[in-house]
Amino acid sequence: MKRMIIGNWKMNPDSFEEARRILNKIKRVSVDIKKTSIAIAPPFVFMQPISKSVTSSKSKLILGSQNVSLYENNSSTGEVSIEMLKKIGVSICIVGHSERRHMGEKDEEVATKVKRLIKNNISPVVCIGEEVRGAQGEHLDFLKNQIKNSLLGVQKRDSHKIIIAYEPVWAIGAPAPMESKDIHESVLFVRKVLADIFGSEIAFRIPVLYGGSVNGRNAGDIIKVGQTDGLLVGRESLNTSAFSEIIREVDKV
Ligand code: PGA
Repeated sequence: MKRMIIGNWKMNPDSFEEARRILNKIKRVSVDIKKTSIAIAPPFVFMQPISKSVTSSKSKLILGSQNVSLYENNSSTGEVSIEMLKKIGVSICIVGHSERRHMGEKDEEVATKVKRLIKNNISPVVCIGEEVRGAQGEHLDFLKNQIKNSLLGVQKRDSHKIIIAYEPVWAIGAPAPMESKDIHESVLFVRKVLADIFGSEIAFRIPVLYGGSVNGRNAGDIIKVGQTDGLLVGRESLNTSAFSEIIREVDKV
């Protein structure tokens, strides 16, 4: 399976000129990258004007969205629909990011978005992760429920479109990521839960990415020791030299 790196730009940068500059740099870096898929998920306002450049046949990049509307009714002020995303070439969409869960997004809403995205041929990047780790392993029960509920009702035949992003909430925006050996343990646990839902053969084919304080110095180790299929990068995806280093390090593994 090809590894994947997703740059989650969150509510950045402040200007379109800066967005364009970041994109152009990533495009140049991606030219020499062989084994890794690179996606960027910019804010909605920047997506349409850069979509052609990202999705053209010469580009190796993938256009991602940070969110999509839960609503299908067009009378939904301030929302962006799946159809709109599809028309500008979006092929992956982050759902259930912890920052959106903090704004009130529930597992059931995540599951609804996941199913609709799959139906429309967009791969959902389903974010899951514990807020805290308990000494008795309480976080494992939390994780299990979050995964099961966020994927509730997804058919086995559709499961190959899913991408999981394991992001322990306490490691997001933190000084350091989770230890790589602990990431490995969590990834195995996530796969076990996926196997309960879809069977073990499918569970091993679903990419499980890691996110939370990834940088150029730790990216390779997280892939190798953590045994992840890729990375979801926040802050460092806007720092073009750091993001380039992450891409090159992962492609070397
Ligand atoms: P970070 O964010 O890389 O800045 O920790 C990761 C994320 O929120 O997806």
